Amino acid sequence: MNKAWLEVVMPASLVLIFCTIMVFGFSMSGLLVEPAPVAPELAGEPAKPTAKPIMPNPVPTGADAAAVAAGDALFKRNCAQCHAVNDVVVGPALAGIAKRRPMSWIIPWVKNSSKMVAKGDEYAVKIFNQYSKQQMPSFQLSDQEIKAIVTYIEFQEQQMTDPVATGVVACR
Ligand code: HEC
Repeated sequence: MNKAWLEVVMPASLVLIFCTIMVFGFSMSGLLVEPAPVAPELAGEPAKPTAKPIMPNPVPTGADAAAVAAGDALFKRNCAQCHAVNDVVVGPALAGIAKRRPMSWIIPWVKNSSKMVAKGDEYAVKIFNQYSKQQMPSFQLSDQEIKAIVTYIEFQEQQMTDPVATGVVACR
């Protein structure tokens, strides 16, 4: 065992440790978003399936990883007080939002939801009434930042495996 060999092995193991921390970090952040001021039972949600272990998917790479990280921070700073990915908090669970609504709806909604309700957007009015006409604040976020938040939400959804497929989360 000589010095040159160590110079190869040391950086390689550092990279390994870093990756492990990233994977763990992402799966933990899924858990950290969970605490809900309103108990899921009170919000009429079915009990969360806890039996299945949450399998972390491979960490996305490159631009995706950057968007997920940025979205994570933006979500925690701006949205987490009222939203979780899989639970109703003050506002609806945001899992599946990218399938329910196009980006062309989500972006103006986050920027100014009351304007969309006032304009009479059918979905906006419906969800506004459904949540006891509680106004969501307007956010001065860029389109890019809102997209990053949605990317983060989609990444969190992927962390949940079977419950989505079996529709447990979908019945809201
Ligand atoms: C003060 C609480 C609050 C905050 C903070 C908040 N929201 Fe909301 N959000 C709501 C409520 C309540 C609704 C339900 C509609 C309504 O009442 O206007 C909602 C609805 C939504 C919807 C529509 C959901 C669906 O199922 O169709 C999206 C998308 C959304 N919010 C995204 C966000 C994002 C992204 C952020 C952070 C940038 C955020 N919200 C921050 C309260 C909040």
